[in-house]
Amino acid sequence: MRSYMLVALAALPCLVPALLSAQGTGPARVDSPFRPPVQFTDEAPAPQIPADVTNDRRVARNYPDQPPVIPHNIRDYQVSLNNNQCLTCHSRKYVEGSQAPMISITHYIDRDGQTLGAVAPRRYFCTQCHVPQTTAQPLVPNTFQDVDSLITRPSDGGDRK
Ligand code: HEC
Ligand code: HEC
Repeated sequence: MRSYMLVALAALPCLVPALLSAQGTGPARVDSPFRPPVQFTDEAPAPQIPADVTNDRRVARNYPDQPPVIPHNIRDYQVSLNNNQCLTCHSRKYVEGSQAPMISITHYIDRDGQTLGAVAPRRYFCTQCHVPQTTAQPLVPNTFQDVDSLITRPSDGGDRK
């Protein structure tokens, strides 16, 4: 009995495509915004890698606590145990020469709420939170609404005080 089931299971991968094409349309098309419209047996050419946005224009944050996105190239900027290239421009010491915005005070506060003299370990790996942008278009529509537009929305009759 057991070995019979094993054989049936092993045959499944071969049976599924056969069953699908038996419906007359061949392997099913996967309609998903995350995949190109190809059959899963096709080998589609790789899509172009979208260009980085490196126009040096600081981008408005979607909410005050958002880590601002990076408006410049960061290729080959090393962040390692011995070297943090982001800090060679963004640390307090160097902003006069680089004219980069200084990391804010929150970057000096450790997890116990102590303000340190240098960047706190939990803020050392900058790209954990700060990311560059590309020209890629969103795969699904984005319905995000800025908090300002929510605050100024005409009253919805709720008993907000
Ligand atoms: C050569 C100097 C330099 C280096 C190195 C550098 N930056 Fe910058 N960064 C700047 C300058 C100058 C700006 C201001 C906007 C501009 O000119 O691009 C900036 C802007 C930013 C901003 C936007 C701040 C805001 O308020 O909008 C972020 C975030 C940022 N950088 C993160 C990083 C990270 C992370 C790294 C390391 C991977 C890094 N930067 C390396 C010079 C630098
Ligand atoms: C754990 C997440 C996190 C890490 C790691 C981190 N940041 Fe930030 N960063 C933030 C957040 C959140 C903000 C916006 C609110 C604030 O200032 O704390 C910010 C703000 C900034 C700003 C804008 C400051 C201002 O006053 O406009 C700069 C520049 C910046 N970060 C650079 C860096 C650099 C360089 C590193 C690496 C040494 C780094 N950050 C690491 C979360 C992070």
